[in-house]
Amino acid sequence: MADLLKIAMPKGRINKSAIRLFQAAGYPLPDDLEESRKLIVTVPDAGMEFILAKPVDVATYVEYGAVDVGIVGKDVLLEENRDVYELLDLGIARCRMSVIGLPSYQPELHPRVATKYPNVASDYFRRQGQQVEVIKLNGSIELAPLIGLADRIVDMVETGQTLRENGLVELTTIFPVTSRLIANRVSYRMKNEPIERLCRRLTEVIEHTVK
Ligand code: PRP
Repeated sequence: MADLLKIAMPKGRINKSAIRLFQAAGYPLPDDLEESRKLIVTVPDAGMEFILAKPVDVATYVEYGAVDVGIVGKDVLLEENRDVYELLDLGIARCRMSVIGLPSYQPELHPRVATKYPNVASDYFRRQGQQVEVIKLNGSIELAPLIGLADRIVDMVETGQTLRENGLVELTTIFPVTSRLIANRVSYRMKNEPIERLCRRLTEVIEHTVK
């Protein structure tokens, strides 16, 4: 079998729009790529092998060369600071990284901030000249201000539904987030042709969608 391009694809929310993007770019991916429990799915007609990974681990697989390219949120790239090439803004999974709190929030001298993104949060508050204690959590971050673990949280907002349903408000937007195509540095040289072809085809679809 010809050398397949190995792609780390995030499981979960991003997956459906990423599959649609690849299909529109002419790669015959099955709609149900993620629906079985299989973690490695080969699509010979596309010349690709997909590794279905936790979104937060995608950049790690790419940096170590376990896969050639990956799809990953800008949030993870900024948090993990992995040594990879960022090739393309895919414009999918649009959301934002924000500081969130209760509507009654009052600025405090040394607030506690809960987050899944300790590096992003520390960096943001350092740049603001604010001293905060960052508490790392792994999910359901919105719980923290509700039950008194933290004064504020730094987390992703997509539709805003989680905030509304839990009576929280966005205090500041830190940066917008979309998914990016990233590549391993060695793969980018060794498999330049298929990677560049993938970039060209995806760019055509993205530009066409934006117009
Ligand atoms: C993410 C994020 C927010 C939510 C925002 O959580 O951490 O909780 O989505 O989306 P919304 O604005 O559309 O409501 P995720 O679903 O990844 O689960 P988690 O709580 O385990 O992080």
